[in-house]
Amino acid sequence: MNNLLAGKRGIIFGALNESSIAWKVAERCHEQGAKIILTNAPIAMRMGEINKLAEKCQTEVIAADATSMEDLEKLFVTAQEKLGGKIDFVLHSIGMSVNVRKGVHYTELNYDYLNKTMDVSAISLHKTLATAYKLDAIAEGGSVVTLSYIAAQRAYSFYSDMADAKAMLESIVRSFGYHYGVKNRVRVNSVSQSPTPTTAGSGISGFDKFFQFADKMSPLGNAPADDCAQFCVALFSDLTKMVTMQNLYHDGGYSNTGITEQLLNL
Ligand SMILES: NC(=O)c1ccc[n+]([C@@H]2O[C@H](COP(=O)([O-])OP(=O)(O)OC[C@H]3O[C@@H](n4cnc5c(N)ncnc54)[C@H](O)[C@@H]3O)[C@@H](O)[C@H]2O)c1
Repeated sequence: MNNLLAGKRGIIFGALNESSIAWKVAERCHEQGAKIILTNAPIAMRMGEINKLAEKCQTEVIAADATSMEDLEKLFVTAQEKLGGKIDFVLHSIGMSVNVRKGVHYTELNYDYLNKTMDVSAISLHKTLATAYKLDAIAEGGSVVTLSYIAAQRAYSFYSDMADAKAMLESIVRSFGYHYGVKNRVRVNSVSQSPTPTTAGSGISGFDKFFQFADKMSPLGNAPADDCAQFCVALFSDLTKMVTMQNLYHDGGYSNTGITEQLLNL
């Protein structure tokens, strides 16, 4: 490994189990020399798997509900104490929709659930950034990455209110990215990832069929979680210091493809 993140301190949100994108990002960041703190919602921690990751990455876990300003403040204060300085990078890898989980059709959304979707899946990024901004917790030139999906730009029949959440998430990337860039050269970007077999991904109805469709629709095939993690490492590193306020597709070429021979030959 080339120690791209040597000397850097990071906070990684969203590692639930080995298939989580955040899990892979944590492993790659550790390999690249970063010191990290892991965090997830208290309810996710009860499953206990994240402790295995903490052991592997020689670190610890701080519970925080990413919709709670109080939890986020404690997280940033404690993480800086434990890591010994300001934070250089943050991965926000969080998504959840009760409408999707309960199979509520998009035309009949439950609006209490919709508020929850927006709070957990989009506004939590604003809350994370606002907390760090207020505490001046991110070092100059730091990097924040969140995970998005192309349903923010195009209609995907099955993605329900998560599409609205991703559109808002990408807007927060631009809007907060502006303010944080001016204040402290902190970069904020979203990575729009291929369908990936994780707990959140597989919760979408018809995921398996869609996964195969997207694979055939991408010249390079679907981008695996491990490669997504490498891309996140690049965005956390000093090699991408001038990249900010972007939604970056990490999808094997899917987003720029109209039709492929693999699909026509089906
Ligand atoms: N899997 C895919 O196909 C895919 C594709 C593109 C983008 N994404 C995005 O990647 C991100 C990570 O999802 P994943 O696929 O790794 O699934 P995952 O289920 O492993 O991760 C989702 C995480 O969100 C956490 N979370 C939920 N509510 C929370 C809260 N209130 N506070 C803190 N954490 C909370 C969960 O505990 C979990 O760790 C999500 O934003 C998802 O939308 C996933």
